Amino acid sequence: MIHLDDVRLTLPSEAGPVDILRGVDLDVTPGESLGLVGPSGSGKSTLMAVIAGLERPTSGRVRVAEHDLATMSEDALALFRRETLGILFQAFHLVGTMNALENVAIPLELAGARDAFEQAEAGLGEVGLGHRLHHYPSQLSGGEQQRVGLARALARKPQLLLADEPTGNLDAETGQDVVELMFRLQAAHGSTLVLITHDPHLAQRCDRIVEMRDGRLSDAPAPAGQAAD
Ligand SMILES: Nc1ncnc2c1ncn2[C@@H]1O[C@H](COP(=O)(O)OP(=O)(O)O)[C@@H](O)[C@H]1O
Ligand SMILES: [Mg+2]
Repeated sequence: MIHLDDVRLTLPSEAGPVDILRGVDLDVTPGESLGLVGPSGSGKSTLMAVIAGLERPTSGRVRVAEHDLATMSEDALALFRRETLGILFQAFHLVGTMNALENVAIPLELAGARDAFEQAEAGLGEVGLGHRLHHYPSQLSGGEQQRVGLARALARKPQLLLADEPTGNLDAETGQDVVELMFRLQAAHGSTLVLITHDPHLAQRCDRIVEMRDGRLSDAPAPAGQAAD
């Protein structure tokens, strides 16, 4: 599903060029869930932006769902994102002037679905919000807002779900509930998942964990108490 080959990204800054990604290799197979951990500022969100075709690397190959992103125009990349990806953000990014149903219907309407609102209602039912369809984001709790975000991300049944600290604005218990839901729906939809998280317990729910440090990936060490002997 994801094949990264020696991906490097250098961006300009006031202090001169900064090497943000320094040779990232990664293969994620269809249906796999990958936990991406590592310190703040190590390049995790940047890597996700590269996988989503939002940031073009300075060098290296990026293949996602059979697309070679380097060869694609901005329009083709926008279409690729709409067709292939669901993205879940820490800060929810719901449209404040739209209710839950309208927020989830956006990607469906963009895709030209005639039954966008029926599908959106079903999706909100799947995340347990069938009784909150006409509530606006400001009338929903953080956990509810992120469940709307999840329903929106999954609305088009994307092959790949990218989640960047999706529980970062939630208390531990609410975050756990949202993540349980995310894993359940990922499995039900057969989606591939990349989950960026600070929380080692959440990362351990993934099939595999990799760690970003200073723009490079390595296999995460086995958690304490589970070291091989
Ligand atoms: N557009 C940009 N221009 C320059 N530096 C950036 C830009 N975006 C991110 N960075 C820097 O790249 C590094 C990695 O950032 P990020 O990917 O957000 O890390 P993480 O998600 O692991 O916390 C940080 O040092 C950040 O300041
Ligand atoms: Mg980040």
